[in-house]
Amino acid sequence: MDLGLTHRKAIISGANRGIGRSIALAYAAEGVHLAVLGRNREACNGLAQEIGQAYPNVKCVAVYVDLEQPATIKPAVEESVKALGGLDILVNCAGGAYRGRITEIPDEMWERYFAVKPLGLIRMTRESVPHLEKSDQARIINISGTRGREPGPNSAMAGPINFGTLSVTKAMANEFGAKGITVNAIAPGSTRTRRWDELVSITAKDHGISLEAAEKRLLEEVPLGIVIEPEDISDLAVFVASARARAISGTCINVDGGRTRSI
Ligand SMILES: NC(=O)c1ccc[n+]([C@@H]2O[C@H](COP(=O)([O-])OP(=O)(O)OC[C@H]3O[C@@H](n4cnc5c(N)ncnc54)[C@H](OP(=O)(O)O)[C@@H]3O)[C@@H](O)[C@H]2O)c1
Repeated sequence: MDLGLTHRKAIISGANRGIGRSIALAYAAEGVHLAVLGRNREACNGLAQEIGQAYPNVKCVAVYVDLEQPATIKPAVEESVKALGGLDILVNCAGGAYRGRITEIPDEMWERYFAVKPLGLIRMTRESVPHLEKSDQARIINISGTRGREPGPNSAMAGPINFGTLSVTKAMANEFGAKGITVNAIAPGSTRTRRWDELVSITAKDHGISLEAAEKRLLEEVPLGIVIEPEDISDLAVFVASARARAISGTCINVDGGRTRSI
């Protein structure tokens, strides 16, 4: 299948580790030129170097952004577009959620995490749209999370952050459709990043069980009984960015092994 991705140009936030890193590597394998954005300059530079060595025909630049510092966003997008010579794809992946109960999470943490997602994602998109609208294959992909659709225990913050991300994805799809830009969300279930290890150890502690038993317990909620790997998310991010996904917009696709109960 020709995905029409070779020589396309993408910005990926939160690219230095976890799911974002996997998306960067998957795009590079398809010949997409990349700006990998993050706070951790060393990790972003390392990834750009790794991609440059593995895929000599792919241009990959590391660009600093701190989404908690709005003044860094416009320069990061401008620097990326200048280095790549245009923009076709924006992947908003940066973010996460502070763990804790509603009564325990301090205001500072609500403000900090919401500044990254969805607010940072909105700011990244606002700066990127004038460039995306010049592309004939413009894509925005927002990485949300299944807790945004179905809050669960221990997801006091993951619920609203990802719900907000889903809602704004729909608003963006409505607003940017006339500019030829598709906008979609991907909602990972619990994915094997460092967050998975945290979740396993919290579950083990809460129930006084071993790490192995905690992992087994978490997987009982997943009909397929598998841990989601970052590559499960990045494979879908490749397809949604491709020419083949031209008619898909304003939707969210779960990648959760069937854990979400609703359809
Ligand atoms: N893993 C899961 O189970 C799971 C489940 C549902 C949804 N998700 C979503 O998937 C996305 C990626 O998750 P992940 O598990 O891969 O996360 P991760 O390994 O914790 O990576 C988070 C990324 O976001 C970046 N980031 C955080 N705060 C930032 C800021 N202020 N400015 C710029 N970059 C910032 C981090 O950069 P630094 O290194 O600079 O902090 C890092 O690259 C997130 O949006 C998350 O909500 C993940």
